Amino acid sequence: MTAISTQNYKGARDFYPEEMRLQHYIFTTWRRVSERYGYAEVMAPILEFTDLYRAKTGEEIVSEQTYSFKDRGGRDVTIRPEMTPSVARMVAARQQELSFPLRWYSIPNLWRYERPQHGRLREHWQLNADIFGLDDTSAELEIISLAHALLLEFGATEDMFSIKLNSRELMSYILGEYLSLQVDAAHRVGKLLDRKSKMSDEAFINQADAILGAKLELFLDLIQSSKLHDLPDEVRNSQAATELAELARALHRRGVSNISFDLTIQRGFDYYTGIVFEIFDTSPENQRSLFGGGRYDDLLQIFKSPRVPAVGFGVGDVTMADFLQVHQLVPQLDSATKVAIVALEPEHNEDALVLADQLRQAQIAVAVDTTERKVGTKIKVADKQAIPYVLVLGPEEVANQRYSLKELKTGDEFNGSLEQVIARLS
Ligand code: HAM
Repeated sequence: MTAISTQNYKGARDFYPEEMRLQHYIFTTWRRVSERYGYAEVMAPILEFTDLYRAKTGEEIVSEQTYSFKDRGGRDVTIRPEMTPSVARMVAARQQELSFPLRWYSIPNLWRYERPQHGRLREHWQLNADIFGLDDTSAELEIISLAHALLLEFGATEDMFSIKLNSRELMSYILGEYLSLQVDAAHRVGKLLDRKSKMSDEAFINQADAILGAKLELFLDLIQSSKLHDLPDEVRNSQAATELAELARALHRRGVSNISFDLTIQRGFDYYTGIVFEIFDTSPENQRSLFGGGRYDDLLQIFKSPRVPAVGFGVGDVTMADFLQVHQLVPQLDSATKVAIVALEPEHNEDALVLADQLRQAQIAVAVDTTERKVGTKIKVADKQAIPYVLVLGPEEVANQRYSLKELKTGDEFNGSLEQVIARLS
């Protein structure tokens, strides 16, 4: 028999306790901040009908990046590559009963058939936060403030990340009205901008030239603007640009100041209708976006449901972990097991088990090492497993019912009764 490989599926992820602790830290922080902003947690199945993505998720993802197959009953199904269509489906299904504005968050795991690389895997988890039912930019203001607050909660400062804003409406104004491009040419320019960061400047200019001809210079000037007031008057006074300026002003007022305007932020999904944004790590080591989101007012139309305006974002755990690592923001993450009890002699193993149960009754997480190894070895094992405290149990401790607790990181020792040990560990 040939041995079965211990290698997991390419781009998929095993979480050993160390990775699991980091993921747990990220998820708890995501949950805490989302709930602090009034968002309620939801979840949907990992498998959906393929049709859910056909209409508006976008050609590249649907035809090249999904895990799609026929189930045993011949139905076309897809492992979700993103959460937004599922959340929209849930809103549409109960639209009559739900009350708006609706604030929902979820932490699904998603699958995309990508070429695994730094910051991009085939399996990732994504915090999604979406607000439904608001037509004005108060929705964008809240969603972007939430994204900003999430990063600050991890200890980040504004210089570590940058928020880039654009607007689908502004793009169509620029391409359609200002540059007077036909619909097809405008569409091709949009797709070209979406690929800009993945190609050389020369290739980009050549391809833009082929579509734009005499309008090339005008276009290149426009996409270099990182401030709205760099734009030509006619563009700057358009309704879409005014809306963006108003959002930027309100964000500044709330202390969100690391924002810039970037016409090359396109967002691959077809469902976005208004303001879109991405958040990038400013460290050159992490080029991939951390957050991506925007307004998608028409997605519920795919269910023939009444229109519900929506704004939201997704932030991935892979890029989030890279961000924390690059900026040295990962705190010391201990095991959930608070203390390891180690008997000096095997004859005290039973006492150790009884003591462990007493601590567990006080909600303290305990592991007992009853192997016949040396105490020194047992302490080393506890340390390797990131268990912060060790309690060594010998004849004296058993006789006097006073215990000595050692904190492994600092070497600090503490002596006391059971109650005092519990108080110390709680
Ligand atoms: P997205 O831009 O495709 O948006 O993904 C959002 C974030 O998820 C990215 O910025 C990145 O951090 C992470 N991400 C995406 N793909 C991968 C991957 N293959 N490996 C690791 N991380 C990845 C959406 O999915 C939208 N549905 C977000 C949204 C919610 N828009 C409105 N509401």
